[in-house]
Amino acid sequence: MSIGIVGLGYVGLPLAVSFAEAGEQVIGVDVDHGRVAELTSGHSPIEDIPDERLQAVLGSIQFTTRTVELHEAEAILVCVPTPLTRNREPDLGPLQSAAQALAGVVRRDQLIVLESTTFPGTTRGHMVPMLEESGLRAGEDFALAFSPERVDPGRTDYTLRTTPKVVGGLTPACTERAVEVYGRVCDHVVKVSTPEVAELSKLLENIFRSVNIALVNELAILADRMDIDIWEVIDAAATKPYGFTRFDPGPGMGGHCLPVDPFYLAWKAREYDLSTEFIELAGKVNQYMPYFCMDKIERALNDAHKPVRDSRVLLLGVSYKAGVGDIRESPALKIIQLLRKSGADVRYHDPHVPELVEHDLRSVSLDDLDVDLVVIVTAHPSVDHEAIVERAPAVLDLRGSTRHLGATQL
Ligand SMILES: NC(=O)c1ccc[n+]([C@@H]2O[C@H](COP(=O)([O-])OP(=O)(O)OC[C@H]3O[C@@H](n4cnc5c(N)ncnc54)[C@H](O)[C@@H]3O)[C@@H](O)[C@H]2O)c1
Repeated sequence: MSIGIVGLGYVGLPLAVSFAEAGEQVIGVDVDHGRVAELTSGHSPIEDIPDERLQAVLGSIQFTTRTVELHEAEAILVCVPTPLTRNREPDLGPLQSAAQALAGVVRRDQLIVLESTTFPGTTRGHMVPMLEESGLRAGEDFALAFSPERVDPGRTDYTLRTTPKVVGGLTPACTERAVEVYGRVCDHVVKVSTPEVAELSKLLENIFRSVNIALVNELAILADRMDIDIWEVIDAAATKPYGFTRFDPGPGMGGHCLPVDPFYLAWKAREYDLSTEFIELAGKVNQYMPYFCMDKIERALNDAHKPVRDSRVLLLGVSYKAGVGDIRESPALKIIQLLRKSGADVRYHDPHVPELVEHDLRSVSLDDLDVDLVVIVTAHPSVDHEAIVERAPAVLDLRGSTRHLGATQL
């Protein structure tokens, strides 16, 4: 018996490796031939899974593009993307094609679990009808559940094993099946009564972050106008031992989750005659942040008697968060676009992102800091920001990572 994983990205690959490390046989399916070939050769495109870790379990994982290989699997975990369309509406395309392919292979007594983040009702309202095209009944002939993924790329203090995993099955028996399977790789599995509770719990987690980041971003804009140090304010508030959770301002939200997932719920809420104001407002504030940062860049250059046009601006860190190379929805990309529109000569350094193909840029060395302004957009721990503050003519720090230096350039 084996565990099948559909979609081998940031979520699916760590899951596949974890099950293999726990002694399971794993079949990993992805529609991307290139990815399957890369993984089969022992090369991991996901930073959280170093090549050595993947290579150590290659004997237990079969990577393939053929969903039919999953027919004999004991359980199939679906980790395909759930993006937005151009009109910012849920795009269930990858999920639908995965479910349609699974309808052709699902067999009696199999367990299928959806892990992709999505609006409440997806498992019951979308997965069930598509999977039942097989002629088998969900919850009777095969088990079906939703279990949201909580992977946080770059995080090392919590792992798949030590992060509690929420599971909601179509029936209590479906939940028990999923709890047993996840119990092999997670120390603590949390049962909830329905897939809808599990689906909404994941969105609550992401919306909680999005709204709190927006709140602190809005206060950062105000504090800037009032000439108050927002970081000192947050440090002070964070000394309260209860009733306050720290969030830090930044150049905007990136990654696959926070800029996307809340809008799955906002879209669904409209069906219930409700406009989810917090979600929309948080999205609006967070989307504005790159423009605010552009304003700060203009002011920093102005202080140096320089116009934006033809100024040499070096962005430090272009991925959406520290320590990872993921550039999806990264606010740095928007800042590059705004700078170029104003005629700036843009370059960047990022140890995790060797090139930005769409912007025709390659990461430059930090040996030569012959620029007008350095902007710390994402503060990677591997970059010596202190040395840069010492050498650069001017530094604008959008993350507050160098404020302890008290340098005049900032
Ligand atoms: N990245 C994160 O940190 C994170 C965290 C929690 C939850 N999630 C959620 O998990 C889901 C997957 O996200 P991800 O970041 O792993 O995406 P990803 O883009 O890194 O990986 C998805 C993989 O699925 C493959 N795929 C697409 N359609 C397929 C299909 N029909 N059949 C088989 N494979 C298919 C793609 O080729 C890709 O390799 C999303 O719903 C996301 O919101 C992501």
